[in-house]
This record gives sequence, C-alpha cells and structure tokens, in this order.
Amino acid sequence: MVAPDRHARTNWFRDDRFGMFIHWGAFSVHGRGEWLRSWEKISMEDYQPFIDGFTPEAFDADDWARTAVAAGMKYAVLTAKHHDGFCLFDSAHSTYTSVHNGFGRDVVAEYVEAFRRHGLKVGLYFSLIDWSHPGFPAFGDAHHPHRDDPAYEGREHDFDRYLDFMHAQVRELATNYGQIDLMWFDFSYDDLTGEAWRAGELVEMVRELQPGILLDNRLEANGGSFGSIITDSPLPWSGDFVSPEQLIPAEGILDLQGRPVPWEACITLNNHWTHFFGDEDYKTPRMLVRKLVEIVSKGGNLLLNVGPHPDGRILAEEQQILAEVGGWLSRNGDSIYGAGAADLPKPEWGYYTRKGDVLYAHVFEPPIGPLALVGVDPTRIDSLEIGGRRVERADSWLIEAYPDTAFVSFGEGDPALTYPLPDDVDTVITIRLTPPSIPHGE
Ligand code: GLC
Repeated sequence: MVAPDRHARTNWFRDDRFGMFIHWGAFSVHGRGEWLRSWEKISMEDYQPFIDGFTPEAFDADDWARTAVAAGMKYAVLTAKHHDGFCLFDSAHSTYTSVHNGFGRDVVAEYVEAFRRHGLKVGLYFSLIDWSHPGFPAFGDAHHPHRDDPAYEGREHDFDRYLDFMHAQVRELATNYGQIDLMWFDFSYDDLTGEAWRAGELVEMVRELQPGILLDNRLEANGGSFGSIITDSPLPWSGDFVSPEQLIPAEGILDLQGRPVPWEACITLNNHWTHFFGDEDYKTPRMLVRKLVEIVSKGGNLLLNVGPHPDGRILAEEQQILAEVGGWLSRNGDSIYGAGAADLPKPEWGYYTRKGDVLYAHVFEPPIGPLALVGVDPTRIDSLEIGGRRVERADSWLIEAYPDTAFVSFGEGDPALTYPLPDDVDTVITIRLTPPSIPHGE
C-alpha cells in the first residue's frame, strides 16, 4: 500500500499510468540534441541561428493531442523551457521565447488548450538550469557551455538574481495557463540541489497557485538519484514521484521501509529526447507494450518521449508506432489503467498486474500445453477470460499432479496440446477472484 496521506494527490497519476513526454524547442532545429550547447561549448551568439530558425509552421497542438490519445496516453509533459533557456511560453521576464523570436506563438498556451480539450492531463517540464542567463554559474560548473572558458573565469554572477528570475517564470507558468496537473523540474547536481534553488519557497508558491499539482523529485535529485522522497522524512520539495530515466528499476521503487513510492520512468522512443537527425533506433510497439506492462507490474508509470520535427510535426513513423501501442491498449487497457503491482512473484512467462480483486496475467512466452497460473490460489478463481471470452480452467490428466495450480489452455481442443498465443505481443488473461473469506470472529 502506498501511504495514503503522503500520496493521495497521485491517485489520478497512478491510475493513468501512461503519458507523453514532448521534448521540443530551438534544439530541434539543429537536430543534434538538447545538450549540444554544452557538448560543443557553443556561445549564445553562435546558438542564435537556431533560436531564429525556430519557426515551426506545421505546429498543430491538436495533432499532437490526437496522437497521444491514439497511443492510449492519458497525460503529457511538454518542455516549456529546457537547459538552453529558450521558452516556449510568453514571459514578461525574457525575450528569449517563441513569442519574441519571430515565431510569435505561445506554444504552451496552444498545448494546454488542445490537450485539455482531448481529455488529457497537462504537465510542464521546466529546466532549473538556464545557460542563457548571466546569473547562472558558468566557469567551473559541471555542464555550462563556458565551464572551462578562460574568458569566464572569475566573472561575477548574481545567482540570487537568477533565482528571482527562475521563480518568476515558474510563477508565470503556474498562473497564466489554468490548471497545470504536473510540473516536471529538471534537475539537481553538485551543490545545486534543494534549498540552493530556494526550493522551499518555490514549492510553496507552486502549491499555493496550483493546489492539486504533482511535482517530480528533481528539485533535489536527477534521473539517477531519488532524493529524500524515499526516506522517513521527505522534505517539502522532495516531490510526489521518483523519475528514473532510461531504465526500469528491477523491483519498482520502495521507500526505506519497503513501501511503494509512486514513480515514472521517462523513456525515449528512439535514443534521443529531441528530434535527432539519423536516429531511427525506434523501440517497436511490441517492446513498448511489454515494457509498459513491466512498469505497471512494478507500480510505475511510463512517460514515453517524442521529439517533434523542427517544423512541428510528430513524424509519421513515430505516430504509427504509437498508434499500434494504442491499438493494444484499446483492447487491454483494463489491465493497465487503474492497475498496479499484483504482489505476486513474477511468473516465468510474463507479468501479473492487478486491480482490486481482478488479476491480469500478461503472457509473453507461450507455454508447452496449458499455462500454469503460478502464484494464484485456485480456490479463489471466480472466472477467467481471454480477450473478453470466458474460458474454463484446463482439465487434463497431465496436470493432476498439480492440484494447487490452476491451468489455462489457449486452444478450444485438447488442453494437452500446445497452441499459439492469441496475441503474440501480450495475451492478457483476466482472472476474477472471489474476495478473500474473512476468518471467523473478525
Ligand atoms: C536529462 C537530460 C535532459 C532530459 C531529461 C529527461 O536530465 O538532461 O535533457 O530532458 O533527462 O528526463
């Protein structure tokens, strides 16, 4: 059980399970990744052509929202501002925005309007780091484009001024766009963590403006660390969920007392966050469905990333992959939305997920003969279904030696025979359990 007081606001999030991450901005223009300015130590001046070049005429937030719905996603998180500091929203505190660069549109406004209209919850990614601001540490910082540029050595910077600016921009996002369901801060490192961001004040402001909002844990952590959210004394800025990046934790995520903590794995569709020329290493729909199942079986969410093209479109091949995942979800969504860990050992053939008294067996690996529903007490099985079709427990002299295990056959004929899985990606068996009998006297 997730501690109810601490995690009550994550209810919708833990039900939704599947969201769309959208990494988009001026870095999409050069197609070499959102870290390019850091990797290649590019100055503001030399980066300017990409800012000027961000005029995505084909951008249609409605198309994005439809793609997310077709994928079976329930929420989304858009990079309102990434580490380069370029804002996809109108800001009174900066002209380094999509409203001022010649494009003239408030992308965040269009995004929140369209996604809400399609019934999706809306989240915003906001970079705590800003390489465009003179108050942000440059020389000697771990990542800044001028980290080892002698011209920046000893240069004064007013970090408090930076924090005023950063807080003011967060205030704009939390004020000007209606209800924001989730704010995804990114990220803490070295000394820049927690109160170094004036995190207490920031979180208090955000929660006051957006009482129901969910926050990730990166005001004191990053993709590879947890922060104090897993301890007995989480801080006000420890966040509502852990955000493992580009991996699925082996056992889900538990706090130090062994209780589940809400978490969301953010994972790219190919191998980059932003539109990256030449990267066609797409994960297949089959892999994505199976990884979503694995994540849900461990009590987590999948935030699957797309990096739209510089002209604003989500590429057709990406839409195709997402639509196939959505096709599977349209048939099997009951086993994902509102479902979570089954508290049963992982079966060899796949995974279990669970929603109350309903267990879902996700079968990836076809059995020889009938499938053993390992770990499930056969006396508690009320009914079994495969693809909406009621099936009976397999009965054969070959399984008589296993009276404590229920078996299911994938064929209509002799259950001793081996049949192909009805769905080769993931065949879901719905197992309705009778409520546990209450011992006498309780
Ligand atoms: C990393 C990267 C960043 C990306 C994020 C998504 O922190 O720095 O570019 O946006 O992961 O989780």
